[in-house]
Parts: sequence; structure tokens; C-alpha cells
Amino acid sequence: MMLTINRVVAVVVYLSVGLTTARLPDDINDGQSPEPTHSAGGWPNPEPMDGPIPNNNKPQTMDPTVIRREDGKLFLYHTAKNGSVWTADSLYGPWKHEGNAHLPEFGGAPSIHKVDDTYYMFYNNHEFDYRTIGIMNEAAQTWYHGANVRVASSKTLMPTEWTQHGRLEIDWAMRYNILDASLLTAGHGDHRRLLFTFGSYQRGIFQLPLADPPTKIAHGANDRITHLANNVTKAISGGPTEGAFVFKWKEYYYLFYSSGRCCVQPKTREWLGRGDVYKVMVCRSKDPRKGYVDDQGVDCANDSGGKEILGTHDNIWAPGGQGVMVDDEAGGPIIYYHYVPYDQETDTKQKAYHFGWNKLDFSSGWPVVI
Ligand SMILES: *[C@@H]1O[C@H](CO)[C@@H](O)[C@H](O)[C@H]1NC(C)=O
Ligand SMILES: *[C@@H]1O[C@H](CO)[C@@H](O)[C@H](O)[C@H]1NC(C)=O
Ligand SMILES: *[C@@H]1O[C@H](CO)[C@@H](O)[C@H](O)[C@H]1NC(C)=O
Repeated sequence: MMLTINRVVAVVVYLSVGLTTARLPDDINDGQSPEPTHSAGGWPNPEPMDGPIPNNNKPQTMDPTVIRREDGKLFLYHTAKNGSVWTADSLYGPWKHEGNAHLPEFGGAPSIHKVDDTYYMFYNNHEFDYRTIGIMNEAAQTWYHGANVRVASSKTLMPTEWTQHGRLEIDWAMRYNILDASLLTAGHGDHRRLLFTFGSYQRGIFQLPLADPPTKIAHGANDRITHLANNVTKAISGGPTEGAFVFKWKEYYYLFYSSGRCCVQPKTREWLGRGDVYKVMVCRSKDPRKGYVDDQGVDCANDSGGKEILGTHDNIWAPGGQGVMVDDEAGGPIIYYHYVPYDQETDTKQKAYHFGWNKLDFSSGWPVVI
């Protein structure tokens, strides 16, 4: 859900190489014996879909956000130049290309949430010059540290009917990159809090309150940033935690995030091995602001905790960029995500990100992809 440099490179590589080559260069051979082709978890394939899979005219649907409008129409936005938008009446398709939202830059990792009668979209952008607000650290001028999140609102979700509200004024810092947003509405009425979760390679996932309505940060919010998850195992330089989505189910808040590399490596244009590419993690807490732990009770912010609920399996490579919602058609909660179509027989990954979804079973207290 973020436009890191990896993503940009992946997009550029994809656009320039196109479909003329059927496979990417081989994975880095780390000298290990081949890993099993099927996950121990027995993860399912994505639900079947009729018709085209949302693909931005090219087979690419990265970091999807899905929301169903009152009239039943589903909208899917995703990281794409011009903000390509897909719609459908059913999660099972067929999906139709509805148009382009013409978001600045790539409209990176959009995340759409309804608050009262309005939809709010948060998306990544790298166009802001932090020097204009006195941030002279050169890192703020790089892709890895120079992101910001912008907000737009709409009553209709239609691609051309968004009002732009500008950048969220989250303090710039080395410990995060301001990207990969999602919004959680916690509590009701006077106790309603609109909590904004974001973050990134560097030190993982952070959160702060937004104003209500959520077109800017809450008063004093920069002094109230909490740390939700981080992975300091440093198997990948730069840290591998991003793309968070907090979802309430019964008495817990569940923090879903993507761990590992989304994309091919920027320099080599090769994929890391399956252990180091995107996979979906979850942690939970009764407090939406802090205290997330995994199923072993390991703290997710301080001790690199996190329960893997979906990883590379069968013909699905590097699933991530996920979101969660409750949908009547599916009869309960679902997880939606992107994945790279993979031929495990020949170890070939397509140059594409497809949209997929599955139901989630929370009956054990932890989400299981079914
Ligand atoms: C984006 O939109 C512009 C003008 O609307 C068009 O020329 C360009 O081809 C589009 N780019 C993509 C990647 O769709
Ligand atoms: C994690 O570390 C922070 C900062 O040192 C500390 O305030 C917090 O209590 C720690 N959390 C746990 C569960 O130990
Ligand atoms: C942390 O990173 C390591 C190395 O990539 C990975 O094996 C592990 O699953 C990650 N754990 C979490 C909770 O992200």
C-alpha cells in the first residue's frame, strides 16, 4: 500500500518491459534447497471471479481498496498512474473499468473509508517539498523518506467526483515514511475517534488521531503518535513492515499489515526468495492505539511479533497490500489483497499484480483465510 521506490521501479520496469518477456529473472539463489510448494497453512486460492480482473488496462492492481456504496455498487481503487477505478455489482465480478480519478502522481496505496455520509480517500504522494516547511534533512528529498499522504472526499465514489483537501500535516521523521494509510473509526457518538494508521519500511506502523471530519490531523496529534508494529530482525535492510489496516471484530482491534518486499528489487529487478516477499501478518489488541501482540503473546511493536495469515502458496506469489471489510454478499468479513500470478512448476512470476479476496473466519479469535 505504499509507493516506495520499489513500487515505482516495478511500475517503470513493467511499463518499459511490457509483456514481451514472459518471465522475470530467476530469484536470487541462496543455496538453500527448494522450499515446499504448498504452505503448511493450507491457504486457499482467491475466490473465483467472472470476467476481467481489475487491471488498469494492464494486468496490474496493486494495493487495492474496495468499498461498497449504499446502492450495492462496489468500487476498487488502487495504486496506478491516473488513479484507475474499477466497479462491479458482485465481488465475484464481472468488474468494469469505470474511469480514472486523475490523482496526483500514482495515487499510491489509496484507502477509502466512509464517515457519516462522506467517503474519504487517503493516498500516498511524493510531490511535496518538505523544505518549504523548514525540513532541511536531505533524506526528506528522497523516495524512501519523502512521502506524504493526501486526503480527498466524495459523496459518490465516482472517479471524477473527488474534492482534494491536501496533505495531512504529520510531522516528518526518520523513523517512518508517511504512506500506506488506513482509517479506523473507534467508538461512537461523542466518544468517536478517527484513528489514522500509516507507515513504512524504517520502523514500521504508527498511528495518530485525525480531526472529525478527517480532512486534517487532530489538534496536537503529532505529540500523540503511537507505535503499533515493527520488525527488527533486519533480514531485509530497511525493514519490511508496511501497508497496515486496523479492523475491529468483536472485542479486539486487529492490525493487518504486509511484511516483506512487495516488488522486485530496485537494482537487480529480481525477486527475493519467498520468505522475504510480501505476506500478510496480523496482531491484535483491545486498545486500538497500542499494545498489539501476536497469537503467542509477542509484542508487535517492541519484539517483532506478528502472526502470518497469508503468504506465497500454490500459484500465488507475494500476497499483500490488503484491506478488510464486512460484506453482506460474502456473509461476513473478507480480506482483499493483490498477488503476483505465479507458475510454481516453472518458478515463473508474471509481471502483474492481480486483485483477489477470500473470506475470513474469526471464530478462534484470530482471523483465518478460508
Ligand atoms: C494518464 O492520463 C493521460 C491524460 O489523461 C494519458 O495521456 C495517459 O496515457 C494516462 N496514463 C496512463 C498510464 O493511463
Ligand atoms: C514497548 O516499548 C515502549 C517504549 O519503550 C514502552 O513504553 C512499552 O511499554 C513497551 N510495550 C511493552 C508491551 O512492553
Ligand atoms: C520479520 O522479518 C523476517 C525476515 O524477513 C520474516 O521472516 C518474519 O516473518 C517477519 N516477521 C514479521 C512479524 O513481520
